Amino acid sequence: MKSKSILITGGAGFIGSHVVKLFVQKYPNYKIFNLDALTYAGNLENLKDIESKNNYKFIKGDITDEAFINKLFSEYRFDKVIHLAAESHVDRSIKDPLAFVKTNVIGTMILLNAFKETWKDNFENKLFYHVSTDEVYGSLGQAGLFTETTSYDPNSPYSASKASSDHFVRAYGETYGLPYVITNCSNNYGQNQFPEKLIPLFINNIINNKALPVYGDGNYTRDWLYVIDHARAIDLVFHKGVLGETYNIGGFNEWKNIDLVKLLCKQMDLKLNKPRGSSEKLITYVKDRPGHDLRYAIDASKINKELGWKPSVTFEEGLAITIDWYLSNDDWLNSVTSGEYQSYYKKQYN
Ligand code: NAD
Ligand code: TYD
Repeated sequence: MKSKSILITGGAGFIGSHVVKLFVQKYPNYKIFNLDALTYAGNLENLKDIESKNNYKFIKGDITDEAFINKLFSEYRFDKVIHLAAESHVDRSIKDPLAFVKTNVIGTMILLNAFKETWKDNFENKLFYHVSTDEVYGSLGQAGLFTETTSYDPNSPYSASKASSDHFVRAYGETYGLPYVITNCSNNYGQNQFPEKLIPLFINNIINNKALPVYGDGNYTRDWLYVIDHARAIDLVFHKGVLGETYNIGGFNEWKNIDLVKLLCKQMDLKLNKPRGSSEKLITYVKDRPGHDLRYAIDASKINKELGWKPSVTFEEGLAITIDWYLSNDDWLNSVTSGEYQSYYKKQYN
C-alpha cells in the first residue's frame, strides 16, 4: 500500500499534539507532517515522545502565509489534512478579535485553496478534515442538546471565526467537490493544555496558592471531554467518517463551572495532602466574561451509533490523570507560564 502523506496543522498545541502522537505511533506507514507556527500555545515539548520517529516531520510555519503554504503543498502534495491550527481561547478573542479572523478564517481559506489547487483534477482518496467546536452553535438554555442540525449561532469572536471557517469548508465541498469532514467537539481537558483554560489555569493557581477567578455566578455549564478521547474520535472519523458529513463529539458529561471547580479543589487537596477545604478557600467570584454562553451540551449519538465511538474514561478518572500529569510536570508548567503568560494574566485578571 502506498504510504499516506498527512498534514496535521496545529500539532504542537494541546489537542493537536495528542492527535500527532496517536497517528505517529499507531500508523507507522503514514508520513505525518506537523505544521505549526509555535505561537504562545504551541510547544514542541509536547511531542518529545515521537520527535525522532522516522514517519514524523515538524515544519515551522504560519497558515496565514499564502506563498509559504502553496509552496509546501506543491513540494509535499499532502493527500490528507487534519486542520487544528487556530487561535483557541475565548477571552483572547474578546481582546483581539482580528487575530482570530486572520488565523481561523483566512488561514483556513489558504489551506483550503492550496488543497483544492493540488488535487482539483482528482480528489479520489483525498480528505480535508476540519476540527471545530460546539461553540459555533451558540448557547443552550437549561434544556436541550446540540445536534449536527442545530443552527449556527455563535456569540464570541472565537466562535464566530470558527463558524465562519466551518462554512467555508462546507462551501468548498459544495462548490468545488472538495472531500471534507467536520467535527464539532465540546470542551477538552487533559495533559498539555495551556493554563489559560479553566481546568489547567485553576490547577496551576491551586499549586501556587493563587485566587481561582470564577466568572459571574459560576452557574455556566460545559460538557467536558478527555483530550485522548477526542483524539480517538478524530482517528475514527478520519478513517471511517462519511465525506461531507459533520459529527458532534462530546463527553456526555455536563458540569456547572462552580461544581467542577469544587470537585477539582477536593481532588487537589487530596493530591497535595492539604487539609480538606483549603483549595476551595481560593475561589473568588470575578467580573463575568462579556457575551458568556450559558450552556453547551453535545448530543454525540451520531458518532456513537454510526462509528461506535464513546468516551473511554469517566470525568473523575480523566481529571485525576490530568492533575497527576500537571503535578509531575512542573518544568513544563513553569516554562509555559513564564514570559508572555505573565502579561496576559495581568491584563486578564488584575
Ligand atoms: P491550542 O491553542 O492549544 O493550539 C493551537 C495550535 O495552533 C498551537 O500549537 C499554535 O501554535 C498553532 N497555531 C496558531 N496559529 C497558527 C498559525 N497561524 N499557523 C500555524 N499554527 C498556528 O488549541 P487546542 O485547544 O489544541 O485546539 C485545537 C483545535 O481544536 C482548534 O481548531 C480549536 O478550535 C478546536 N477545539 C478545541 C477545543 C478545546 O476545548 N480546546 C474544543 C473543540 C475544538
Ligand atoms: P474556558 O476553559 O475558557 O473554555 P470555553 O470558554 O471555551 O468554554 O472556560 C470554561 C468555562 O469556565 C467558561 O464558562 C468560562 C469559565 N471560566 C472562569 O469562570 N474563569 C476563568 O478564569 C476561565 C478561564 C474560564
